[in-house]
Amino acid sequence: MRLRPASVYRYLLLGIGVFLGVYMIYSIIGYDDGSHVPIRPQRHLYLTVSQDRIGSRFGNLAPKRILYWTTVFGSTVPHTMLSDCPGLTDRCVIDTNRHQLSSADAVVFHAADISKFPLPNTRKENQVFVFNSMETPDNSGRFAVPESFFNWTSTHLHSSDAIHKYGSFLISTQVAESRGFKVQSYYVQPKRFVKTKSGVFGLISNCHTTSKRELALQELGKHINVTIAGKCTSDERLKTICPPGVECLDIFEQYPFYIAIENTICNDYVTEKIWNRISVPSIPIVMKRRIYKNILPPNSFIAMDDYKNPTEMANHLRALESNLTAYSEYFNWRQKGTWTSAPWNSPGYRNGVCRVCELLWKTKDNGTESTKSYENIWKWFDDESQCEKDEFVRGWLSG
Ligand SMILES: *[C@@H]1O[C@H](CO)[C@@H](O)[C@H](O)[C@H]1NC(C)=O
Ligand SMILES: *[C@@H]1O[C@H](CO)[C@@H](O)[C@H](O)[C@H]1NC(C)=O
Ligand SMILES: *[C@@H]1O[C@H](CO)[C@@H](O)[C@H](O)[C@H]1NC(C)=O
Ligand SMILES: *[C@@H]1O[C@H](CO)[C@@H](O)[C@H](O)[C@H]1NC(C)=O
Repeated sequence: MRLRPASVYRYLLLGIGVFLGVYMIYSIIGYDDGSHVPIRPQRHLYLTVSQDRIGSRFGNLAPKRILYWTTVFGSTVPHTMLSDCPGLTDRCVIDTNRHQLSSADAVVFHAADISKFPLPNTRKENQVFVFNSMETPDNSGRFAVPESFFNWTSTHLHSSDAIHKYGSFLISTQVAESRGFKVQSYYVQPKRFVKTKSGVFGLISNCHTTSKRELALQELGKHINVTIAGKCTSDERLKTICPPGVECLDIFEQYPFYIAIENTICNDYVTEKIWNRISVPSIPIVMKRRIYKNILPPNSFIAMDDYKNPTEMANHLRALESNLTAYSEYFNWRQKGTWTSAPWNSPGYRNGVCRVCELLWKTKDNGTESTKSYENIWKWFDDESQCEKDEFVRGWLSG
């Protein structure tokens, strides 16, 4: 076909116009100047660019940037961390490049690693510095930081701004249903409540604890069989009964009771000693009821401090051993299905960095953007943790 010169110009102009239009849109929303770490493929185009690039107009849509200033126990956190956060995977971005401080919405400092990196010497308005530790104060380094340095806390304590704990959130089935969660069953065959061994089993590798757990168990062992396996036993067979890194849940199951007492007794500090064995039909023994009563279902565990002394406790354990009905009552929460666990990182039960991400959006959405900081972070951590020394065991043994 023959084109007249006028229509060639028209098509040319149209072509240039379309190109310029597309380029303009692309440069606004699709361009990242390369100063940021690669971002995982995102679902929405508008979420792939950094806030400082697109400016305040689209700022509300850009993902929040969470910069890990430190390693976590020596390891650099993976950028894929947020893939563990259903519903938030494209709402935040994990960064580990300290040169990107100025574009971070939150800066996370893992307590035990703080001393390995110089602290940032600038901070932007609205940027939150997060104090992070899943461990107890004594296992978190206690490295000095300036006063009012941290804005948010992210620790095992429920009173943290963004809780970061081991294990799941056990909740009543009623609550789970009201939130539309899929209910997980913890039911076990009742025949598994009948045990082949007697007394208490413990797999222990810390032989000298601040709380003097070992003294309490030694005394208890005078009144009921207490079988200690692992590093702290002199019985060679029991020393190696469970290889390192293996759960050995079948051994725990053989005994009616097992020791779930933490190495350190602090508020809200509950570790794999409970969580890895939560499905085993054996009753966990802990030290202080107050620490567990808001974390585990009622009547699902035995606390030492429910009893005046080791004799009284041993009497109760032996009574349970010889009465299957009474013993089974400790498993009502699972047999009757009254308790379950919240799905991992589900809304309302988010943990760790997922909770930090959620919180970053919450403060923004609210619009009020209230500011806060912790004047003395270690004092806060100690006060809230209320870690125990050996007062309880000393009193119990002479009780
Ligand atoms: C303690 O365990 C041993 C060996 O399993 C058993 O023979 C004994 O009867 C148990 N003692 C008590 C008081 O249950
Ligand atoms: C066994 O425990 C049940 C429930 O606690 C109790 O009602 C019953 O009297 C106990 N049986 C014996 C023989 O002690
Ligand atoms: C916003 O923050 C204020 C003050 O912290 C609080 O009282 C209010 O409930 C929040 N609103 C929403 C929608 O979260
Ligand atoms: C964070 O803490 C700093 C220092 O105490 C303070 O100036 C700033 O306002 C706080 N920011 C937020 C968002 O809480």
